[in-house]
Formats: sequence, structure tokens, C-alpha cells
Amino acid sequence: MLTIIVALVAVVASAMAPNGVESLQYAIRATARTSFVLFLAVFLSTSVARLAPSALTRALARERRYIGLSFAASQFMHAMALIIYIGTAPEAFWVGRTPAKNIPGSIGYLMILLLTLTSFAMPARLIGPVNWKKLHLAGVWILAVIFAGSFLTRAHQHVAYLVAMLLRMAERFEA
Ligand code: HEM
Repeated sequence: MLTIIVALVAVVASAMAPNGVESLQYAIRATARTSFVLFLAVFLSTSVARLAPSALTRALARERRYIGLSFAASQFMHAMALIIYIGTAPEAFWVGRTPAKNIPGSIGYLMILLLTLTSFAMPARLIGPVNWKKLHLAGVWILAVIFAGSFLTRAHQHVAYLVAMLLRMAERFEA
């Protein structure tokens, strides 16, 4: 169900774009944001259930594996949109980007793969409960750092955008 909602958000976002390349950019951003919401729900679920116990917060903590798998599906769509984007408009993708900038995201995808695989019973048994705990703790924190990095490196763009808007508005009022 959550995966269907993510797919719908991505489709609606890309339909709102003025052209093909931008529709892929919209889909990439939309799936990054749906991933972030799902990630936060898993990341905070146990703490929230402990701090503010209620039927809802307990259900969130109980369903965190399902929400985590929906996060993985959302990131899979981020990857699919990226692959199509790189194939369609490589010059737009590589603007201001070096191969080194893809390293954190690639590590993120490796972690998502490992966390997803070990959320199933057989692989989880194979690595044992101690390693499972270590892997999931490290994986979730690595993803948190990647999210922080992705949003923070774009913060200046949003700020610049805001300043530009304010300048434009001031300009109009002056005129
Ligand atoms: C090699 C793998 C990855 C590549 C090449 C990549 C590339 C991109 C690109 C091109 C954008 C859109 C930039 C824009 O138009 O503003 C984007 C947005 C984003 N990505 Fe990824 N990504 C990767 C993996 C990941 C992973 C693993 C995460 C999270 C754990 C992530 C989180 C984000 C976030 C938070 C945004 C910003 C969305 C926004 O502007 O609101 N990405 N990524």
C-alpha cells in the first residue's frame, strides 16, 4: 500500500513538470522525499513509542519492518528514475557532479540492500542476532548521515532561491 502511494506521488510529481527531463528530476526529488518520510518513521518509531506510548505509536513501532521495506521500494524508484535520467540527459545529471559525489549514495544503496536482505528470516539467521543488530544500527545511521548530507548540500540552493525571490519582490515594489 505504502509502495503504491510512493509510486503515485512519483507519477503525479513527474506529470507536473514542464518537460521530459524535468519530469525525471521531479520524480527523483519526489522519491527522495517519500523515502525520507518513511525513513524517519522507522528511525524514530521505537523512541516515539517509548516516549509517547499510544495505540498509534505502538503500531508504528510494530510495523517498522513493513515501513522499512516500503522505504527500500521508494529508494528503488529513486534509483530507477536516476538510471532513466542518466540515460536520457547525462549532461544535466553531470552538471556540478564528479564521480566522487556518487560515493555516499552508492554506499547508501549498498546499506539498503544489506538491510533489506537481512530483514528476511533466512539471511538474518545466517548472520546471527548480534551481527544483525550491529548491521542494522550502523546501516540506519549511515543512511541518516546521507540524508543529512543530501539535504544540507542542497540547502544553499534553496537559500539562494529564496534570496533571488526576495530580490525580485523588492525590485517589483521599488518599480
Ligand atoms: C549513487 C546513488 C545516488 C545518486 C546518483 C543520487 C542522485 C540524486 C540526484 C541527481 C538528485 C536530484 C538533484 C536535484 O535535482 O535537486 C537527488 C536528490 C536527493 N537524493 Fe539521491 N542519489 C543517490 C542515492 C541517494 C540515497 C541512497 C539517498 C538517501 C539515503 C538519497 C537522498 C536524496 C535526497 C534527500 C535528495 C534531495 C531531494 C530534494 O531536493 O528534496 N539519494 N539524488
